[in-house]
Amino acid sequence: MSIEVVHSIAAVREKLAPRRGSVGLVPTMGALHRGHLRLIEEARARDRTVTASIFVNPIQFNQPEDYARYPRTLEGDVAVCESAGVDLVFAPPVEEMYPVPPATSVEVATLTEHLCGARRPGHFRGVATVVMKLFEIFQPDRAYFGEKDAQQLAVIERMVRDLNVPVEIIRVPTVREADGLAISSRNQLLSAEERRIAPLLFAALEAAAGAVAAGERDAAAIKRTAAALVEREPRIRVEYLELVDAAGLQPLALLDRPGLLAAAIWLGTTRLIDNVRLEPRQKSHKVVS
Ligand code: PAJ
Repeated sequence: MSIEVVHSIAAVREKLAPRRGSVGLVPTMGALHRGHLRLIEEARARDRTVTASIFVNPIQFNQPEDYARYPRTLEGDVAVCESAGVDLVFAPPVEEMYPVPPATSVEVATLTEHLCGARRPGHFRGVATVVMKLFEIFQPDRAYFGEKDAQQLAVIERMVRDLNVPVEIIRVPTVREADGLAISSRNQLLSAEERRIAPLLFAALEAAAGAVAAGERDAAAIKRTAAALVEREPRIRVEYLELVDAAGLQPLALLDRPGLLAAAIWLGTTRLIDNVRLEPRQKSHKVVS
């Protein structure tokens, strides 16, 4: 079918009713870029019907100014969706999603204690609540999320597991620019000078991954390796740089299980996040019997 754009929940349900069984959902806030496109491609590879939501969700923003200045480019986004093969776009007005201020919310504990969760109070409650609503509206068979937002992904996987939501969550690796910078709608807010510096974030995470590959297991040393690189650049302000276990997102002193090295930095007024997974590969010991 050619792309359909709908703005009401009733229309989503009506259009999808005959298509159950292989419906994929890509939730977004619009301002679509190659990262979002990869999610859509993954959905196309697995699902017969590919749907996307475009909704700048007010309840996940900490600051009203941040919500107000979030880019809204619906016309262009629909064109991108159409050429990427999306079947149905749901772009609701705020009143459709929140006709009354919600009294009910979804709170995923523990996983939200560190990283972004510690710095953006209520953010993940807003994310989990809107994603749960989207799952109820679309009732998708699969939903696609990017590893760039690793904590968000962990929160959604846990919500689905805890609440027995019948949807399969598909993780999609971070799409990067040629110089390593994770693609984000915020990158366009960077000045030319800041854009030149921004790849240092991923370079720092990669340097730490290199130390791990060389045998380092001490969390403080791993973090120091990454910090040394970003701190060399005075225009970067590090908000956090943490090593947590990949499953529970709790701080690690020793990399004795799969870890996630995650960071948020500020470049001027722009906040960038990124992360890499760290695997404590066994050192090879020759056992002679
Ligand atoms: P948004 O920032 O628009 O991102 C939508 C999806 O695209 C998320 O799953 C995000 O992880 C993924 N994504 C963004 N940049 C990516 C990249 N460079 N590589 C791979 N995936 C990338 O995340 C949200 O919207 C909202 O919080 C939402 C889940 C829609 C709830 O409002």
